[in-house]
Amino acid sequence: MTAQDPFNAHKIAVAPMMDWTDRHCRAFHRLLAPGAMLYTEMVTADAIIHGQRERLLGGAHVVAGDTRVVLQLGGSDPDRLAEAIHLAEPLGYAEYNLNVGCPSDRVQSGRFGACLMAEPELVARCIEAMITAAGDKPVTVKCRIGIDDMDPEEGLNRFAETVAGAGVRHFIIHARKAWLNGLSPKENRSIPPLDYDRVARLRDDFPHLGISINGGIATVEDAAAMADDFTGVMIGRAAYQHPYTLARMAAAIHGHDTKDRFETARAMADYAATAMADGTRLIAITRHMLGLMAGLPGARGWRRTLSEEARPDTASPELILHATDAVEAAVNSRTLAA
Ligand SMILES: Cc1cc2nc3c(=O)[nH]c(=O)nc-3n(C[C@H](O)[C@H](O)[C@H](O)COP(=O)(O)O)c2cc1C
Repeated sequence: MTAQDPFNAHKIAVAPMMDWTDRHCRAFHRLLAPGAMLYTEMVTADAIIHGQRERLLGGAHVVAGDTRVVLQLGGSDPDRLAEAIHLAEPLGYAEYNLNVGCPSDRVQSGRFGACLMAEPELVARCIEAMITAAGDKPVTVKCRIGIDDMDPEEGLNRFAETVAGAGVRHFIIHARKAWLNGLSPKENRSIPPLDYDRVARLRDDFPHLGISINGGIATVEDAAAMADDFTGVMIGRAAYQHPYTLARMAAAIHGHDTKDRFETARAMADYAATAMADGTRLIAITRHMLGLMAGLPGARGWRRTLSEEARPDTASPELILHATDAVEAAVNSRTLAA
């Protein structure tokens, strides 16, 4: 937290989520959670270096002027990770994060993601190269409490000690193991049991390190309590699927008013008008907003409009305004009837 920044952004972060936390999603989450740290989808170092840079960093792209966006990188080659950071630097990310938690097969075959928890010395070399490339920007690590039959007590402490020795000051821990054989990435986000106590022990064993906690945090009360107990909370699915819960979590943690759903939706229509100037289709923006009105009368119509009517190439940002008016009218008529 600096004099210019009234928020401690690390207290609440929205997790990196492939195919979900693209720049349009982050523009939306930024309105709901003005002070939160927002992570990009994971981008591999190789993808940034070879070719598709425009498309990839376009997708991961910082929304202009946003100073609280973390670029998550995937990779295990120190030189390539450093090169990727050099290439990404002009985009103005606040921090860089190394993915040591993702269990997908594709990621394992490239020898990065969660399988790197078994190779802390290699992660340390990656981190040293990344820190040199990042200059004064922080480099952080997102990992699990362990993998497969690794002893999560001994294994996680050894991992943290070795990687912290290379200069990492902040770890984000998804509080469950990754089981690398036999579970799909999706199953690996729900079947291995959550163990928040293991993350608390890590925090207590390494009091000089920042330790943020992630995994299964779904209510405002839990998020606020854990944000007090740890360096911060990272919220994934709950933030994406229930955006208004994200707004309420951010308000509780950062101590500001909860952002209004209708104002947010109308601001997204303005955002869409600007974003669509480069050929972006409306659906690429509205697909992230389907859960915004959950629990309100008219929520079903909102979802339908934003998913079906937003699909044609001709769909325009006014659609968001019409859908917002419809939910607001439904809420007002219910209030009058009550
Ligand atoms: C659709 C989806 C994509 C994900 N992609 C990534 C990713 O690119 N990098 C990463 O570190 N974790 C990824 N994750 C894991 C999340 O960052 C987070 O650790 C996990 O969902 C647990 O948090 P939650 O219970 O709050 O959702 C993804 C999760 C989901 C649901």
